[in-house]
Amino acid sequence: MPEWLKQAVFYEIYPQSFQDSNSDGIGDIPGIISRLDYIRDLGCNALWINPCFDSPFRDAGYDVRDYKKVAPRYGTNDDLIRLFDEAHKRGIKVLLDLVPGHTSDEHPWFKASAQYEENEYSGRYVWTRHPFEGIAGHPYISGVTERYGAYMLNFFASQPALNYGWLNRTEPWMSAPDSEEAIATREAIKDVMRFWMDAGCDGFRVDMADSLVKNDDDNKSATAAVWRNVREMMDAEYPECALVSEWSNPWQAINGAGFHMDFYLDHWGNGYNTLVRDYEPGGEDNSFFRSAGHGDICRFLQDYLPKYRDTKDSGYIAMFTCNHDTPRPARTLSEAELKLFYAFLFTMPGVPFLYYGDEIGMKYLDVRTKEGGYQRTGSRTPMQWDSGKHYGFSDTDGEIYLPQDESTDAPTVQAQQERPDSLWHVTRQLIALRKEHADLQADGDFEVIYAEKGEFPFVWQRGSFIAAVTPSDRWVKTVLPVGCYETVFTIGSAAVNNTELIMKPLSYILLKRV
Ligand code: NOJ
Repeated sequence: MPEWLKQAVFYEIYPQSFQDSNSDGIGDIPGIISRLDYIRDLGCNALWINPCFDSPFRDAGYDVRDYKKVAPRYGTNDDLIRLFDEAHKRGIKVLLDLVPGHTSDEHPWFKASAQYEENEYSGRYVWTRHPFEGIAGHPYISGVTERYGAYMLNFFASQPALNYGWLNRTEPWMSAPDSEEAIATREAIKDVMRFWMDAGCDGFRVDMADSLVKNDDDNKSATAAVWRNVREMMDAEYPECALVSEWSNPWQAINGAGFHMDFYLDHWGNGYNTLVRDYEPGGEDNSFFRSAGHGDICRFLQDYLPKYRDTKDSGYIAMFTCNHDTPRPARTLSEAELKLFYAFLFTMPGVPFLYYGDEIGMKYLDVRTKEGGYQRTGSRTPMQWDSGKHYGFSDTDGEIYLPQDESTDAPTVQAQQERPDSLWHVTRQLIALRKEHADLQADGDFEVIYAEKGEFPFVWQRGSFIAAVTPSDRWVKTVLPVGCYETVFTIGSAAVNNTELIMKPLSYILLKRV
């Protein structure tokens, strides 16, 4: 386990929307470099950068055309290497986004594999032998290649599935997971990983990590075996690099597949979803962090606690404010509610991820789809830095990547830095607290102290600290375990009288046992 993960606080950057340095209206790597001081001063010490590789951008870069080449619109490989160096100088680690399950249909491997003549890449993707048949119930395309067969899709129509084999094989064209062609795919991806780790990156966030071997069993054991092989390589050759999965099943991803940590994704009805996104647009909102909602922290805990207990000695659960696939929390939460959500997130175990712009509560915008974003596009708009042109994102006279927030109350970093009680300042204070106290970091002890269905506050212990949060719009109180407490940090207003904790509406308190 790379030691640095313990105290990591990640910042996710969607490169096309962070900072444009060459006035083409699209963010780029030199732009990210120019903002590294900002990220360090906010307190984040690790980055996750969404795919920045050559791509036709039909899925915002998750359709890779060349794994070893930075997309020209973002800069050059040398720029990315300079980003690693500059980040490291500031104590910041950098994770790249690895997309191992599929490529773009413009990738040279795919073009070769689609040819009539058999060649080195014929087995690199999942193909049937007949263009007039389906592909065992999976999405496919046929009729567009010289090759006789249909190819399987892993996501959008432009993303053919790479071939890691099938565990349960029902058709003659299904490769075994230990076949030569499946192993060759795995080794090709390891080669890509080595290429970027040799260049200085600190590991990978792995896209759809559970999607590799098809017709896998319920435990995804064949897919897990691929990752354990990758992890062995990393342990032997790059022990300080991290492997983070988009899997959302920590037991499978961490204990089975050997990932260092796993994302707890926003899936409808799961524990994470009940925190801030338990609503249908226009419908009732039952999220825990909505003060007017009738939140129930037990819905979160019932899902989270088994995941936490299963993996607390083997890896970390990663919780995020939002990501590029999820509506921004400010879509429904007020600034006061956002502060409480972040206070919770930054003082829970595991590793927190802050999505660019969430530190100022950037809004989810109603914008037209771009690069396969669809509903996700509203969370992908350019960063709002200051009161300058395009909020300091770009000085282009032309169009920018996506429209920005035109409302009079559009948040900017500059305005929030000038206001001492802003979300930006609270976020910064919370990150600083976490970095200052080992008990609040990824593997500090965690125990629930008070959680009742439909009641507030939620109280939990992290080593020698006790944290309590209440998003409710009424005064609440509860009794703490016997002890002496010192207040370390508050949002809103809360106080302890002997062991009675009294909290005003919308408050958070962090106490230390003395
Ligand atoms: C998950 C990524 O986060 C998402 O943005 C992408 O569209 C799909 N995987 C397909 O790669």
